[in-house]
Amino acid sequence: MMGGHMPVLLDEVLELLGPGAGDRYADLTAGLGGHASAVAGRVGRDGLVVLNDLDGGNLERASARVSAEHTGVEVRSRRGSFAELPFDPAFEGVSFDCVLADLGFASNQVDDPGRGLSFREDGPLDMRLDPEGPVTAAELVNETPEAELADLIYRYGEERASRRVASAIVRRRRERRFERTQDLADVVRKAVPGAGRQRIDGATRTFQALRIAVNGELEMLESLLLSVETGARAAAEGRPGWLAPGARVALISFHSLEDRPIKRAFQAMEQAGLGERLTRKPVVAGVAESEANRRARSAKLRGFRVIGGG
Ligand SMILES: C[S@@+](CC[C@H](N)C(=O)[O-])C[C@H]1O[C@@H](n2cnc3c(N)ncnc32)[C@H](O)[C@@H]1O
Repeated sequence: MMGGHMPVLLDEVLELLGPGAGDRYADLTAGLGGHASAVAGRVGRDGLVVLNDLDGGNLERASARVSAEHTGVEVRSRRGSFAELPFDPAFEGVSFDCVLADLGFASNQVDDPGRGLSFREDGPLDMRLDPEGPVTAAELVNETPEAELADLIYRYGEERASRRVASAIVRRRRERRFERTQDLADVVRKAVPGAGRQRIDGATRTFQALRIAVNGELEMLESLLLSVETGARAAAEGRPGWLAPGARVALISFHSLEDRPIKRAFQAMEQAGLGERLTRKPVVAGVAESEANRRARSAKLRGFRVIGGG
């Protein structure tokens, strides 16, 4: 554990990926290096660990941790979206045996009020996981036309009161722009009927929607799924690609908008003869892990094994 961060479903990920000595592992969302360090211990000195993250700070933390805990293991870092790793010339000729994406944000990101990801703490309305990303949450909230904003909140937040929320936002922003998370959270909570009586905070869904939109999360996931399919197809046809024959791919998602496309893509790949699903139903955390780690409660793990290999 590091800075209060516990990797979710760690044992289950290790079982599903089954990393062995000499394997090449791509951690597409290195975060604080929890999963990566455990996998590095298995691939050993003949293996390769590639760490990828959008957030340069986390990438450095993960890299320092894995290198310190597993001296002699080759560790390479890459900052950027996981959607681009399969095309990065720096990794041309490398085919991975194990790939993990643990989607979303890390505990240190949500706990840092300066990033504006949390509706529990006041901070600037930013929400970018990549500090150089093109658009902030404040820009979206202050500039998106009302109907579009309502659609975004409905689609990405699954918020039934999306129209009321968008209308309240637009009314308020005519007087004063939104700059802070608490300011927005207060306006949203007042617009969601019965927000005070619900189990979840009335601002939860709208904040989720904005985070997904700001970071293009669903588009990135779609392009990753496409790359997994392309990699599996290449392996199936005996062509070189970013996935080795027999590669295992594990994806951890945190809401149905992510889990649904993953489920569909893995099903379609199996039907196309590109390999087999390692999970029929998503693997979820047990009672003990859910009690110890809030984040684990909504985690869903799915895996796929590319055709071929030993
Ligand atoms: C849940 S954390 C990963 C935690 C990690 N598995 C561990 O054990 O410490 C998710 C990480 O993914 C990164 N991230 C989110 N979207 C990304 C993307 N599209 N490309 C690359 N990294 C991304 C975030 O910056 C964050 O550090």
